[in-house]
Amino acid sequence: MPALVLLGAQWGDEGKGKATDLLGGSVDYVVRYQGGNNAGHTVVVGDQKYALHLLPSGILSPGCTPVIGNGVVVDPSVLFSELSGLNERGVDTSKLLISGNAHIITPYNVTVDKVTERFLGKRKIGTTGRGIGPTYADKINRVGIRVQDLYDESILTQKVEAALDVKNQMLTKLYNRRAIATGQVVEELLGYADKLAPYVADTVLVLNQALEDDKVVLFEGGQGTLLDIDHGTYPFVTSSNPTAGGACTGAGVGPTKISRVIGILKAYTTRVGAGPFPTELFDEDGEALRRIGGERGVTTGRDRRCGWFDAVIARYATRVNGLTDFFLTKLDVLTGWEQIPVCVAYEIDGKRVEELPYSQSDFHHAKPVYETLPGWSEDITKAKSFSDLPKNAQAYVKALEEMSGAPISAIGVGPGRDETIEINSFL
Ligand code: GDP
Ligand code: IMO
Ligand code: MG
Repeated sequence: MPALVLLGAQWGDEGKGKATDLLGGSVDYVVRYQGGNNAGHTVVVGDQKYALHLLPSGILSPGCTPVIGNGVVVDPSVLFSELSGLNERGVDTSKLLISGNAHIITPYNVTVDKVTERFLGKRKIGTTGRGIGPTYADKINRVGIRVQDLYDESILTQKVEAALDVKNQMLTKLYNRRAIATGQVVEELLGYADKLAPYVADTVLVLNQALEDDKVVLFEGGQGTLLDIDHGTYPFVTSSNPTAGGACTGAGVGPTKISRVIGILKAYTTRVGAGPFPTELFDEDGEALRRIGGERGVTTGRDRRCGWFDAVIARYATRVNGLTDFFLTKLDVLTGWEQIPVCVAYEIDGKRVEELPYSQSDFHHAKPVYETLPGWSEDITKAKSFSDLPKNAQAYVKALEEMSGAPISAIGVGPGRDETIEINSFL
């Protein structure tokens, strides 16, 4: 019953889509367990590039069943436009399964996301504006709408009414917006019911039976460890649990079933949106990382903030996720630097600190302590094995592995499926 979790070890955009797609050919199920269409996962297959938001990256592997678990928030309009986009390109999406317990991102959740951010002004989180936070807030407040609610008009109407009761007060009195009519929302949501029906399933049962039958299940995280609502840089986080435990609650699979937890780790660091980022660069090196790494958001088109590799964060990711392996991505982007600084610790108020401080004030004051490693200039994009890498690139990988606390089992040297060096097999 091999069950693997694959998740972001930093602030998202580590290359999870590519890593999932790479394993997709050898796994039976790929499951999204949290988040929604705030994710932007890029997969490059031959000369084709796919940008997936809500759908699991396994959808591109013909033998694999893609699953949207109960922990995901689903915007039906985005779902259908993503599905039809893939169908137009010849991808068969008919095997998709969606949990009846997944929550729906309603139009009013998107509105609330946008007005709340506007209201926060310079204190804003820099969300993707996709309604993610307000939908999870409704879930926790027990006024959320679930996929299964679309199949009982009377329950759906009552629930939408209850959800809008308070929101309309807020929208009209606080944000000076128009009230949203229950009937209009219900009508829109009911319009998706028949189209959604073929996909809706008891995914918890399906996945547990699959594991009993020795099928291989891969759980694909959205976002990253430092964006986790519990373990990330709160409040500058997303509203779900991308960390490994989230796979259990977001898919209904017990922790005893998980055999491997793979952290996707970029060879440098990026972040989108607001919040602390100790190794962030504001100079030409940051600009070069952005340019060479193509660091522009897949979902919002925003430039990503860029900085050097931060080993304190990588160690933290190893700890909170119980990582068994790392998949180091985008090593090729570092080609050409003579020296590559790596953050090995922080200095906080004059003291050297080796581990991520739990206090937000300390983290905001953290200054990176760098060690500088020698770079390489040879093209590494054709490297197929570790020994094909220049000596300094090998040493960079080994140093990162030593500092980060888990073996680096694969290395990305380009965006394509075959631009990967496999060191230890994941299956
Ligand atoms: P995700 O959200 O974690 O799936 O990552 P994104 O797709 O948002 O961003 C990662 C970007 O890096 C995508 O454009 C990928 O095609 C690209 N990528 C992934 N792995 C590598 C790699 O090893 N080298 C290079 N040069 N690009 C990569
Ligand atoms: P993938 O899966 C990078 C960030 C947003 C914002 C914060 C909260 O592609 O790695 P939200 O809309 O989730 O309430 O926004 O989280 N964020 C991401 N950053 N990659 C992502 O996904 C992200 N999803 C959300 O920029 O700072
Ligand atoms: Mg992304």
